[in-house]
Amino acid sequence: MSDPVFRLSEGKVTLGGRPVLRGVDLVVGPGEVVAVLGPNGSGKSTLVRTLLGLVPLASGSVEIYGRTPQRFRDWRRIGYVPQRLTAGGGVPATVREVVASGRIARQRRFLPASAADRAAVRDALAEVELADRAGDPVQHLSGGQQQRVLIARALAGQPDTYVMDEPTAGVDAASQQALAASMRRVAGEGKTVVLVAHELGPLAPVITRVVVLTDGEIVKDGPPSIADTSQEHCHPHESVWP
Ligand SMILES: Nc1ncnc2c1ncn2[C@@H]1O[C@H](COP(=O)(O)OP(=O)(O)OP(=O)(O)O)[C@@H](O)[C@H]1O
Ligand SMILES: [Mg+2]
Repeated sequence: MSDPVFRLSEGKVTLGGRPVLRGVDLVVGPGEVVAVLGPNGSGKSTLVRTLLGLVPLASGSVEIYGRTPQRFRDWRRIGYVPQRLTAGGGVPATVREVVASGRIARQRRFLPASAADRAAVRDALAEVELADRAGDPVQHLSGGQQQRVLIARALAGQPDTYVMDEPTAGVDAASQQALAASMRRVAGEGKTVVLVAHELGPLAPVITRVVVLTDGEIVKDGPPSIADTSQEHCHPHESVWP
């Protein structure tokens, strides 16, 4: 049998002296489309960052495709969309540059971008409907557009597994539909998706499994139910939903 994509066993994480994950078990298999739901501060971002080895475990273990994050090498298989674009100063990157950075794990060092790289970047920009903004500095885009740039960066890498932290926060309804279409496409290709959301909205039909976190613990893990599609107890950061 092949390794699961992620295996977190008894994962405990402490941040700033506080327990943030309290012994979480989560195994994600290839082809699953998992939504991680839960109130603000329940540990959703910490959970996905832990799966990626970005947060140290106080105890427990995590494996990515059967290897610890330290030993895992095949990062091209993973596309990560972080919760927010960090507002770094310095040299402004264009939309195309940020999306092209999603190809780096695939590139041979010191070789210029290949035709396949350029095509992947072009297709990803078209898929999130930002082809006409390719040459603009990302800082000139709205928050929702910047979110779409990060989604395009993940798509451009053509990974086997997408990990997306609130990919729809601050994105308008039309873009949410476009993202749902992208997710349907990648799910149909058998890719794995782990996405954090406050509500499923148009993504609901694509989701195969819902994991609900409350105060650092999984309180539900199973197929989606009607109640998951509109999480009344949750408050999106920048929701455009009524
Ligand atoms: N670096 C840190 N130091 C201390 N506490 C932290 C740190 N990062 C997160 N926390 C705390 O851990 C808890 C979980 O945070 P996390 O960002 O994982 O929650 P979340 O469910 O993603 O929340 P949101 O819905 O707001 O994105 C919160 O109480 C948060 O304040
Ligand atoms: Mg979060």
